[in-house]
Amino acid sequence: MIYLNGEFMPIEEARVPVLDRGFIFGDGVYEVIPVYSRHAFRLPEHLRRLQASLDAIRLDNPHDAAEWTRLVRRLIELNEAEDQSLYLHVTRGVARRDHAFPRGVAPTVFMMSNPLVTPPQAQVEQGVCAITAPDNRWLRCDIKAIALLPNVLLRQLAVDAGCVETVLIRDGMVTEGAASNIFVIREGVMLAPPKNHLMLPGITYDVVLELAAANGMPHEVREIAEAELRGASEVWLSSSTKEVLAITRLDGQGVGDGRPGPLFQRMYALYQEYKNRVMRFPDTQ
Ligand SMILES: Cc1ncc(COP(=O)(O)O)c(C=O)c1O
Repeated sequence: MIYLNGEFMPIEEARVPVLDRGFIFGDGVYEVIPVYSRHAFRLPEHLRRLQASLDAIRLDNPHDAAEWTRLVRRLIELNEAEDQSLYLHVTRGVARRDHAFPRGVAPTVFMMSNPLVTPPQAQVEQGVCAITAPDNRWLRCDIKAIALLPNVLLRQLAVDAGCVETVLIRDGMVTEGAASNIFVIREGVMLAPPKNHLMLPGITYDVVLELAAANGMPHEVREIAEAELRGASEVWLSSSTKEVLAITRLDGQGVGDGRPGPLFQRMYALYQEYKNRVMRFPDTQ
């Protein structure tokens, strides 16, 4: 079952007019929220980021956090899988095609759930391969905009190369992945790029930094030069659906010894432990 503009219905019955500004302009924002054992992971944080995205595109939030929470819970109930991936999407609604904001138009609100597919064990144990590419996206990558054409093209470069992700470089610095955040480990220190307009403030990124801080793992939030990426002992990616994965090949070269490193193994274990804890005690997350 999906949710569209006030109603829950089978996806086959859902219809959106072709003049929806999401379809015409990509004028909208979205969220992806993992659900473990029917508990939405870090829901308040996802709703805060949704609010920030809506503010950035100057679109009023159609619901307050309590209403979103109620809708999310109902959507989880109406779908079968214990572990789900929720997609929330708000566009500037349906109007005659004109770039200027329409007046008095209700936003389109759409939510769907798919079974959550976490990375196969082989990817966790052996790591994944990535390529690099120049970050040619716009300068508001902090907005979780549905207009994802640049990310689609960049991610496809990785797929074409038989890899899972494209690590993006802007002005000689690592920004993020086409659909993930990136961490670089050098001399035992985990480096994370600072949150700014050049990257999406990942919810998983925050969890990884919090776990590092809480467990005494040396870490630093600072700009990461391309040369530091290339000479790293470990490189990781993080996202809501991929969790944390080690990148063990980058542009055809092994990262470190070509296997997931010891700090990755530690972080992966901490992440799983944290996930299991919040599944059992959802109020502690
Ligand atoms: C461009 C980009 N950066 C980072 C992320 C990771 O964000 P999160 O951890 O909230 O899923 C995503 C998520 O898909 C993304 O699309």
